[in-house]
Amino acid sequence: MKKIIIGNWKLNLEHLEAIQLLQKLNYSLEVNIEDNIDIVIAPSYTSLRSLQTIIDADNLKIKISSQDVSAFIEGAYTGEVSALQLSKLNITHSIIGHSERRTVFNETDETINLKVHNAVNNNIIPIVCFGESEEQRDTNEYLSYILNQVNIAVKGLRKDKVEEIIFAYEPIWAIGTGKVASVENAIEVISSVKQEISTKPFYDEEKIRFIYGGSVSPTNASELLNTKIIDGALVGGASLDVDKFVQIIKSVKL
Ligand code: PGA
Repeated sequence: MKKIIIGNWKLNLEHLEAIQLLQKLNYSLEVNIEDNIDIVIAPSYTSLRSLQTIIDADNLKIKISSQDVSAFIEGAYTGEVSALQLSKLNITHSIIGHSERRTVFNETDETINLKVHNAVNNNIIPIVCFGESEEQRDTNEYLSYILNQVNIAVKGLRKDKVEEIIFAYEPIWAIGTGKVASVENAIEVISSVKQEISTKPFYDEEKIRFIYGGSVSPTNASELLNTKIIDGALVGGASLDVDKFVQIIKSVKL
């Protein structure tokens, strides 16, 4: 399966800084790298239009994701941005259910399911995040918790739409902490989710991408990314540093 590396810029960079980072990234990438690896960046909403314009004008192969999408379609929902509005900007991906949205903004599994529906209905590929807290890992309840998160996220979706989703295992205790999950941890969780999905007779788990996120850095990327079962990485902090992000991309053995 073609690997995918996604940079989540979170609440950083105003649009001029974002343009600079995109251009620096583009210059630093090997020519035609996108033939072998998908590269996606997720800036703030305020940068989406500027970055998309540059990507279109210069025919860059880097793709753009939003960091979230509304659970609503349209109407009196002050502050929200809809999937339709994003798709009209040619945004191809949307991170949905990131643990920071779940914990800081109290997003529920049901809200995340609505967001996933809105994204796929507008031809946006959802990057669906799931993962356990430190307490859940300690009490050994993490697998059932994660399977429940995933099952609710995909509820009511058509087979072909589920197969488009990128599932991102992001243990909360590994995000921004420097504590990376061991390859064994990641494989255990991803295999369980794959198995769960394959029990639903109509999903072909071989078509679906499963990636890992949480303190991915140039030091641990090679081990994580060259595992057959892990199809890519969702990179936070290190994606704001072009040298580190490019080293992570380069650590994928082609
Ligand atoms: P991190 O963030 O790489 O800074 O740990 C990952 C994420 O939140 O997606």
